[in-house]
Amino acid sequence: MANSNNLEQSVQSLPLQSYYDEKNFEDELTAIWQNEWIYACHEKSLSEPLSYITLKISNYNVVILRDKNNQLVAYLNTCRHRGSILCEADSGKLKRNLLVCQYHQWSYDVSDGKLVKTSSFEIPDNFNHEEHSLYKVQMNIWNGLIFINFNNKATWNTDSMFQDFDDTVNKVGLENFEIGHTWQKNIKCNWKIFWENYSECLHCPNIHPELSDLVPVYSRRIMDIKDSPNWEELAVKPDPKFQGGLKEGAETWSSDGSAQGNKIKALSDIKDFPGHIYLTTWPSMFMAIFIDHIRIVRVNPIDKENMSLSVDWFFESETLADPNYDKKNVVDFATLVMGQDGDACELNQKGVYNPTSKPGTLMPEEYELKRFHDWLRQKVNYA
Ligand code: FES
Ligand SMILES: [Fe+2]
Repeated sequence: MANSNNLEQSVQSLPLQSYYDEKNFEDELTAIWQNEWIYACHEKSLSEPLSYITLKISNYNVVILRDKNNQLVAYLNTCRHRGSILCEADSGKLKRNLLVCQYHQWSYDVSDGKLVKTSSFEIPDNFNHEEHSLYKVQMNIWNGLIFINFNNKATWNTDSMFQDFDDTVNKVGLENFEIGHTWQKNIKCNWKIFWENYSECLHCPNIHPELSDLVPVYSRRIMDIKDSPNWEELAVKPDPKFQGGLKEGAETWSSDGSAQGNKIKALSDIKDFPGHIYLTTWPSMFMAIFIDHIRIVRVNPIDKENMSLSVDWFFESETLADPNYDKKNVVDFATLVMGQDGDACELNQKGVYNPTSKPGTLMPEEYELKRFHDWLRQKVNYA
């Protein structure tokens, strides 16, 4: 298997209990979800001063706001009085630069989180307003994307955050893109099962017939031409099945393969655009750059056996404004593929309950799963 991406040996997968065990899930929340940079949304989701969005990561609530001066801030969405949630809606707009708890009306300044006033008649001598500010959540804005980190000491490092960094993302001007469509989906599976499914194409021909037609290499049950032991011999064949990329005549991931005459400006001069560029940051996000649009998928754990996807399709404003461009062409195709993956993940979850405590097995093409498992095992102790 010289020069191939593949694993040389089959290796053990994670214990199947780790997909439904409460203790493992709690350990993952503490070690991973509270320490890694978590993708929240694009800045455009908070377009006006005093707008806010809320996130629920398992049971932890976060509110991200734009203050009256247009600055972005993030806090734990919990009142310092007795812990009531501050903003309940998924998104909204405040009337003033003040966050007011619905329960007993403690009020906080949006810009710095400081407690402005309580509702008590008397303020005891030992009560210091300064000590009851909202808890700040660390935030970083990268290419217009807002990431948060529950660990206020965490540092930002693009190189170590992305498993497969490609700097095309720095060239497209993502901060100026518009959100053309959003889609949410709950999936009845442990969040790790989603990433495992994302990391292999052994399932592609049977689960994704349409996608395997569009991306011929996927019909060989591999993600990359180098996932085959004799790829060097095969790469001389002109067929995209062995060269990678999209099928003859296709330009993007869409129902008919057409980009409808639109290309992202920064990509329009690239001769051999590979059809898609994926960027992945565990545990919370992947992005796919296509010639005419970008899709970002946020992965969110709900509990040990449930998760959700929040998906945004981004376009340049000229593309959205083009009357000849029907975004449904790309939206429908990706929704079909993600729905198929969701069903496959649920199928996987249904079968993991098992009294034998034996792990599963990874085969040579599942090298990305191994990488994911190695990353998990560095952080969490799986039996
Ligand atoms: S819990 Fe918020 S004011 Fe009482
Ligand atoms: Fe898939």
